Amino acid sequence: MKTESRLVQWICWLIVITSFFLTGFIIGWFARPTSTDTSHDAGSRRHLREFLDEMRAENIRDHLRKFTRLPHLAGTEQNLQLAEQIKGEWLAYGLDSVEMVPYDVLLSYPNISQPNYISIVDELGNEMFNTSLSEPVPEGYENVSDIVPPYSAFSAQGQPVGDLVYVNYGRTEDFFQLEREMGINVTGKIVIVRYGNVFRGNKVKNAMLHGARGIIMFSDPADYCAPGPYPDGWNLPGGGAQRGNVLNLNGAGDPLTPGYPAKGVCVRVGLPKIPVHPIGYHDPIRAYTHNSCVNMGGDIPPNNWKGALNVSYRIGPGFTDSFSTQKVRMNIHTNNQVTRIYNVIGRLRGAVEPDRYVILGGHRDAWVFGGIDPVTGAAVVHESVRSAGKLLRKGWRPRRSIVFASWDAEEFGLLGSTEWAEENAKVLQERAVAYINADSAIEGMYTLRIDCTPSLHTLVYDITKQVNLNQLSINCLFQDYTVARCFPGSSLGSGSDFEAYFIRLGIAAGRARYTKNRKTERYSSYPVYHSVYETFELVERFYDPSFRKLRAVAQVRGGLIFLLADSQLLPLDASQYAGSLTKYAHTIAQLGQKHPDALVKYGVSFDSLFSAVENFTVAARDFHERLTTLDRTDPIQIRMVNDQLMYLERAFVDPLGLPGRPFYRHVIFAPSSHNKYAGESFPGIYDALFDIERTANPKEAWDEVRRQISIAAFTVQAAAMTLTPPA
Ligand SMILES: *[C@@H]1O[C@H](CO)[C@@H](O)[C@H](O)[C@H]1NC(C)=O
Ligand SMILES: *[C@@H]1O[C@H](CO)[C@@H](O)[C@H](O)[C@H]1NC(C)=O
Ligand SMILES: *[C@@H]1O[C@H](CO)[C@@H](O)[C@H](O)[C@H]1NC(C)=O
Ligand SMILES: *[C@@H]1O[C@H](CO)[C@@H](O)[C@H](O)[C@H]1NC(C)=O
Ligand SMILES: *[C@@H]1O[C@H](CO)[C@@H](O)[C@H](O)[C@H]1NC(C)=O
Ligand SMILES: *[C@@H]1O[C@H](CO)[C@@H](O)[C@H](O)[C@H]1NC(C)=O
Ligand SMILES: [Zn+2]
Repeated sequence: MKTESRLVQWICWLIVITSFFLTGFIIGWFARPTSTDTSHDAGSRRHLREFLDEMRAENIRDHLRKFTRLPHLAGTEQNLQLAEQIKGEWLAYGLDSVEMVPYDVLLSYPNISQPNYISIVDELGNEMFNTSLSEPVPEGYENVSDIVPPYSAFSAQGQPVGDLVYVNYGRTEDFFQLEREMGINVTGKIVIVRYGNVFRGNKVKNAMLHGARGIIMFSDPADYCAPGPYPDGWNLPGGGAQRGNVLNLNGAGDPLTPGYPAKGVCVRVGLPKIPVHPIGYHDPIRAYTHNSCVNMGGDIPPNNWKGALNVSYRIGPGFTDSFSTQKVRMNIHTNNQVTRIYNVIGRLRGAVEPDRYVILGGHRDAWVFGGIDPVTGAAVVHESVRSAGKLLRKGWRPRRSIVFASWDAEEFGLLGSTEWAEENAKVLQERAVAYINADSAIEGMYTLRIDCTPSLHTLVYDITKQVNLNQLSINCLFQDYTVARCFPGSSLGSGSDFEAYFIRLGIAAGRARYTKNRKTERYSSYPVYHSVYETFELVERFYDPSFRKLRAVAQVRGGLIFLLADSQLLPLDASQYAGSLTKYAHTIAQLGQKHPDALVKYGVSFDSLFSAVENFTVAARDFHERLTTLDRTDPIQIRMVNDQLMYLERAFVDPLGLPGRPFYRHVIFAPSSHNKYAGESFPGIYDALFDIERTANPKEAWDEVRRQISIAAFTVQAAAMTLTPPA
C-alpha cells in the first residue's frame, strides 16, 4: 500500500512537471519571435559588441605613431604617400573596394625663398625688429624637412605699412566696441587681434569690412597657456604659432569652383583681400623688450581685452609718443596655387539595402605632423575599418553600405570633403542615411562630447551606454569624471568636414570627441592647435597615455555607424527633433521679444513658427506610435518608414539657401555668421535680428525678420508633413 501510494505520488509529480515543461514549451513556441528581423536586431547587437570589443587601444596608438612621423600637408608628396598607404591597408583589412579620388583645387603656400614676417620699421623704412620666421622644432624632429612655417593660407600678398590697432579677439562685437565706444576707426590701419573664441576667417573678414590694410593674429598666453609649455606640458611655447586658412566663403569648398566639383568648372570667389599673418606670444614680448622698447600707444583697453602677456595692453593706434614715427610692416608673399589633392574612399557593400549609405569621414591632411588634428581622428577611423574587416571575415555584412572616407585639404577650407559632396550630390541626396565626422578625436582630458543632429540623440545615449568609460579613470592626468557626459543638445556649427553633408545636403550628421572642461579651460580648441608641437609624444605623454580615451571615441563613432548601417529600423528619432525645435523656437522668439514695440509696430509675430513646431511635434509622436505596431516582417513597410526617417533631415533644406549664403541651406542649423565654429539655430531669423536696433531702415529690417519667420514656419510644417502616413 505504502509503495503503491508512493508510486502514484511519484507519477503525479512527473505529470505536473511534464505539463509545466510542456506549457512552458508551448508558451515559448507561440511567444517565439515570428519575425526573423527582430532576431536580426538581436544578432546585430551581438555583432555590435564584437565590433566594439575588437577595437584596441594599442592599435590606435600604433596607427597614430605611424601616421605622424612626417609632415603631411595637403598637396604634398608625403600626403599622397599617406593616402596610398591608407588605401593599401584598408584593402588588406577587407573592404570591398578602395579608390583614390583626385581633385585640382586652389591651395596656398608660403614662398620658401621669400619668407613671411612682420617688422617694425622706422621713418626711413629700416627694419628695427622682425618676427621669427619659424617655430623652434621639438626634440626628436630636428632633422625633419618640409615643415611649413606658420602662415595664414589664402592671405593676400603685400607689404602694407601702418599703425597698429589692437582689437581684442577681432569678433564682430569687438569691432563694434572699438568703433562705437572707443571711437577708433581702423581704416588704413593694421589690426592685431588675439586668436580664440571665433574662427580666424571671421576675424579677417571683420578686419576687411572695417577697412584695415592687414591683420596680425597672435596666440595670447591667457588663451593658449596654463601650466607649462610643451615638452614639459601640453601648452603652447612662446615660439609656437597657429597656422590656418583664413577663408570665409560660407560653405563654398574649393574657392575656384563653388557649388561644383573641381573638374573644369571655374568661377573664382572672393579670397581675403588683405595680408594676414599668425605669430606666437614671444614675438610681442620681444618687440616690447627690444632695444627701442616700443610699446603700443593709445588708451588702456577694458579688462576683458587684456591677456596674460607681460606688457601693458594698449589699443593704439600706433606706438607711444617717442616711437610714434615707427610703423608696422607686414611682408607677405604667400602664393595661391592650383594643386592636386586625393580623397581615399573605401566601401563596404550592404547585404540587404546596398543603396543606402552610412558615411564615416575624416581628414588626413595636417599642417605639420597632425599629432592631434587630424591623426587622432584618422587613427580611430583606421581602427574601425580594421574591426569591421575582422567581422567581415567571419561572415558578417551590414544591412546597409558603409563608406569610409579619408579627406584631403580640410585645413584649406574643407576642400576634399566638399568637392566629393558636390560631385556626388544627387546620389547622396537619394541614398545617404547619415554622416559621422572623424576629425581630431581628442582636444582635452575631461569628458566625452558628442554634437549631433537632434534625430541622433537617442542613438547617442544608447551607444555611450555600450562604451566602457569606467576604464578611463585609470592613468588620467587630471580628475576624470568617468561618465559619458554628452552634449547632444549643442548644435554642430562647422569648421570640419561634415559641413557640406549636413548644412548643404541635409544629411543627418554627428561628431564625437574627448574634450576639455569648458567651464574652467577657456582656450579655444587646445593650446598647441595647428603648431609644430602637435606630435605623437604630445598625445602619448599628456592627452591619453593609455589610449583609452581614443578607444572610447573610436567605439562611439564606430558604434554610431554600426547601428545606423545594421539596424532594421533606422535608429533616428523624430520626437527628439521636435523637442529641439521647440527649444530653438523659444530661444529665437525671446531674442525677438527684446523689441516688443517694434514687433507691434511692424506686425511681426512668432505664432506661425510655434504652430508649425506644434504640428511637427504631433506628427513625430504619431509617427513613432505607428512604428510600435509596424509589421516587422514586411520589407516594404520597413523601407517606407525608413525612407521617412532618412529623408527627415533633407526636409529642412531650403533649395534657395540662407540669405547671402546659398551653400548653407539648412533652415534649422548653420554656422554662425560671426563665428564659423559655432552653430546657430534658425540662422535666417537670427541674422535678420542681429544688431537690428542699429539698422538704418527699421521697416525693411523687420520685414526681413517676418519673411524669415515665414520661411522657418513653412519649412518646419513641410517637414512635419513628410512624417504623416501615406494617404
Ligand atoms: C618666390 O620668391 C622668389 C624670390 O623673390 C621669386 O623669384 C619667385 O617667383 C617666388 N615664387 C613664386 C611662386 O611666386
Ligand atoms: C629683418 O629682416 C630683413 C630681411 O631679411 C633684414 O634685412 C633685416 O636686417 C632684419 N632686421 C632685423 C632687425 O633683424
Ligand atoms: C640628425 O642628424 C644628425 C646628423 O646627421 C644626427 O647626428 C642626429 O642624430 C640626427 N637627429 C635625429 C633626432 O635623428
Ligand atoms: C573711417 O575713416 C574712413 C576714411 O578715413 C572713412 O571713409 C570712414 O567712413 C570712417 N568710418 C567710420 C565708421 O567713421
Ligand atoms: C615683466 O616685465 C618687467 C619689465 O619688462 C620685468 O621686470 C618683470 O620681471 C616681468 N615679469 C614677469 C612675471 O615676467
Ligand atoms: C498646423 O496645423 C493646423 C491644423 O492642421 C493648421 O491649421 C496650421 O496652419 C498649421 N500650422 C502651420 C504653420 O502651417
Ligand atoms: Zn582637423
